[in-house]
Amino acid sequence: MKIIRSETYKDMARKAANIISAQVIMKPNCVLGLATGSTPIGIYEQLIDWYRKGDLDFSEVTTINLDEYCGLARNNPQSYCSFMHNQFFDSVNIRPEHIHLPDGTNLNAKEECERYDQLIAKIGGVDLQLLGIGLDGHIGFNEPGSAFELGTHCVELTSSTIEANARFFSDSGEVPRKAYTMGIRTIMQAHKVLLVVNGKNKAEIVKRAFFGSVTPQVPASILQMHPDFTLIGDAEALAYV
Ligand code: PGA
Repeated sequence: MKIIRSETYKDMARKAANIISAQVIMKPNCVLGLATGSTPIGIYEQLIDWYRKGDLDFSEVTTINLDEYCGLARNNPQSYCSFMHNQFFDSVNIRPEHIHLPDGTNLNAKEECERYDQLIAKIGGVDLQLLGIGLDGHIGFNEPGSAFELGTHCVELTSSTIEANARFFSDSGEVPRKAYTMGIRTIMQAHKVLLVVNGKNKAEIVKRAFFGSVTPQVPASILQMHPDFTLIGDAEALAYV
C-alpha cells in the first residue's frame, strides 16, 4: 500500500488526476474503473482541464463505473449515469460506446449482474480502478458485511448510506433503497487501485480501513492486500495516520 499525503483537497485531486493521466498516456486504450460521489469531482475537473489544453486524449479509453441505483432512469438527474455525463463524459472525447455503467432500469438483478460481469471480462478487466470510501468503509456499494468474493450484485443500501446520499435528493425518502455494484472480487482484480479521501469526517474510517484488521465489516480494508494500491488523502482525512 502506498500513501500519498496532500495538504488540500485540490492537491489530492491533482495528484490522483496525474496518476490517471499517466495510465491513459502509457496505455491509450486502457480500461478506467470510475466512481461517483463528491470526492472524485475535483479529479474529473482536472482531467477535463488537461484534455482541453490538449494534454490528454480519451478517444481510445473505455470506462466502466462501479455502481448505479436500481430503479432510476438513466436520464434521472440523480442517476450515476447523469452524474458521470455531467461531471466528466460530456466534457471529454470518450466515445459513447466505450462508456459502461450498470443499467439501473433493468430490474432483473440476476440478468443485469451477469451482463455486467461478462462485459468486464470481455473488455479485458480494469487497468485502474478509482474509488472513494464511505463513512462506514464501503467501496462502491459494498456495505459492511459484504462477502469479499462477490462479483456484480444487487445490494440493499444501509441507513448510513441512504442518509449520506440524501443530500443529493430533495428528501431521504427519495433515495433508492437498492443499487447494483461491482463486487469486491472485481475491484481486487483491477491491476491498480487508487482510493481518494478527504475531510475530517473520514479520518476515523481511514484509520480503521487501512491500519486495522482486514474484515468484511470494513469492506475497504481488503485493499491492504491489493498488490498495487495507492491511497491519496488530504491532511484532514489522514490526521490519524
Ligand atoms: P463521497 O462518497 O465521495 O460523496 O464522500 C464516497 C463513497 O460513498 O464512496
